[in-house]
Amino acid sequence: MKLLTADQMRQLDRQAIEAVGIPSIVLMENAGRTTYQILRREFPDLTGLVTVIAGRGNNGGDGFVVARYLAHEGLPVQVLVLGEKTRICGDARTNLQILEQIGVDVMEVTTETELTSHLDALYGSDLIVDAIFGTGLNAEVGGLYRQVIEMLNNLPVPVLAVDFPSGLCADSGQALGAAVVAEVTVTYGWPKLGQILPPGRDCVGRLWQVDISIPPPLAQNMPIELAEAQALRLLLPPRPFASHKGTYGHLLVLAGSEGKTGAATLTALAGLRVGAGLVTTGVPASLNDILEVKLTEAMTLPLPEAAGARALGTAALAPLAAFWSGKSAIALGPGLGTHPETGQLVREIVRRASMPLVIDADGLNALAEDLTCLEQVAGPIILTPHPGEMSRLVGKSTKEIQAQRLEQAQALAQRYKVIVVLKGAQTVVAEPQGRVSINPTGNPALASGGTGDVLTGMIGGFLAQGLEPFEAARLGVFLHGLAADQRADWQGDCGLLAGELLEELPEVIKEFAAGQLPEVEEEVCYRRVIS
Ligand SMILES: NC(=O)c1ccc[n+]([C@@H]2O[C@H](COP(=O)([O-])OP(=O)(O)OC[C@H]3O[C@@H](n4cnc5c(N)ncnc54)[C@H](OP(=O)(O)O)[C@@H]3O)[C@@H](O)[C@H]2O)c1
Repeated sequence: MKLLTADQMRQLDRQAIEAVGIPSIVLMENAGRTTYQILRREFPDLTGLVTVIAGRGNNGGDGFVVARYLAHEGLPVQVLVLGEKTRICGDARTNLQILEQIGVDVMEVTTETELTSHLDALYGSDLIVDAIFGTGLNAEVGGLYRQVIEMLNNLPVPVLAVDFPSGLCADSGQALGAAVVAEVTVTYGWPKLGQILPPGRDCVGRLWQVDISIPPPLAQNMPIELAEAQALRLLLPPRPFASHKGTYGHLLVLAGSEGKTGAATLTALAGLRVGAGLVTTGVPASLNDILEVKLTEAMTLPLPEAAGARALGTAALAPLAAFWSGKSAIALGPGLGTHPETGQLVREIVRRASMPLVIDADGLNALAEDLTCLEQVAGPIILTPHPGEMSRLVGKSTKEIQAQRLEQAQALAQRYKVIVVLKGAQTVVAEPQGRVSINPTGNPALASGGTGDVLTGMIGGFLAQGLEPFEAARLGVFLHGLAADQRADWQGDCGLLAGELLEELPEVIKEFAAGQLPEVEEEVCYRRVIS
């Protein structure tokens, strides 16, 4: 599902009106009517007063249409306009005039005193419709507007937001001064980025997307998407009846050092759990016996060590290069340690291995020391940093990374022509041509050691089965989060062991493949994006 910025939404509005020829007042009518329909679906027992609070722009205009349909139904409705009615123009003005013609109360609120005079009615309302600002919010909210927003958040009355909770930035999801916290939001055409990114996600409540007649093909080249089960399911590698382990690729895992054999184990098993046919784990020679015991189904490959350390050394390159010929993909990095020789080995592997590579953890730390190897890569690369690793890779603070997750992931992907999986709540997957996918699955249960190793193995397993790197990354991230969500359903979001995630995977993948997992509620013209 595409996610739009405010500018992109304006661009599509304009194209629909100017190029396609849909009159803007038709779009406003569709927006208001579908909002009314969702309102009734969400609040079916409503009989008391509904107060629509409208701004002077088109968002307010949509609110006037909602008020009209409520009045048609015979529900008590009043409209408060924040500002002078005479300053309302265009389609919003037309709808304001219709509303007054049919006898709905439309009152101006221009001062705090006037606002106070409506307090009792606001307290007495069964529902408030927030139509103050939508995507047209252009600066920090202050004065009377801010007072109204703060008051709405303190009233014991549910709020339905028209297109956007007022005060929320459509692009960043940050409150511009203050933002309404809605119980339900009905958004037009496509969800906006700021409704999905935290903290905006907490302000929208149950988010509905409605079709207001803007033709869907207009959005097909928009670069940002919210990953969706329906589309991702199609990426699952088929399992033909007459297949064998050779059909599903051979993943080479390079992971583990003293104290971190668990990372190697989790990565290897995750590759098998998502369906790779064979997995071999290349490990420091002195740890091989341990891995032989820990890994039954994955094979091991003992490799030369760095002098005086139980970690891979540069002498491992030659046997590795001989071994990886004919292998399908490499998962590189979990638990490798930070020995300088290991770092050098990682960078040489990146320069020489021509099959797809997924690089995580200490593999990323090795790259951070000298990123030039990414300018000479032999094959497709996926980097899977968490914000701390990303900070080391790009030389920015974690805070800066977190404040601009999309932009940072996009910039790194474009700079080095790699796929970047920036982990965290709503993992971002960016590719060099500018496409970005935001992942909706996962929960705080994943905040525990080893879950990242599982993700690396899953992506590696999908690469080994021949998925394109961007697809392997998106599918791996989605299913990883979904497995955690399934587990959290009965275990809660605390205390998940990475190994338990592995146990969850086969059933999750089976149900996912069969389309049995809960999905967005969807009908012809609208669907619920967030519940
Ligand atoms: N074609 C359509 O009819 C159509 C299609 C889709 C959606 N929509 C709706 O239209 C909305 C966008 O409409 P719009 O562009 O007119 O924008 P808007 O969201 O209605 O906001 C614009 C209004 O807010 C005021 N404003 C903006 N930032 C402010 C601030 N910080 N403090 C005080 N006032 C502020 C503007 O005042 P100034 O002008 O003084 O800056 C203007 O009156 C969408 O969110 C959606 O609800 C309409």
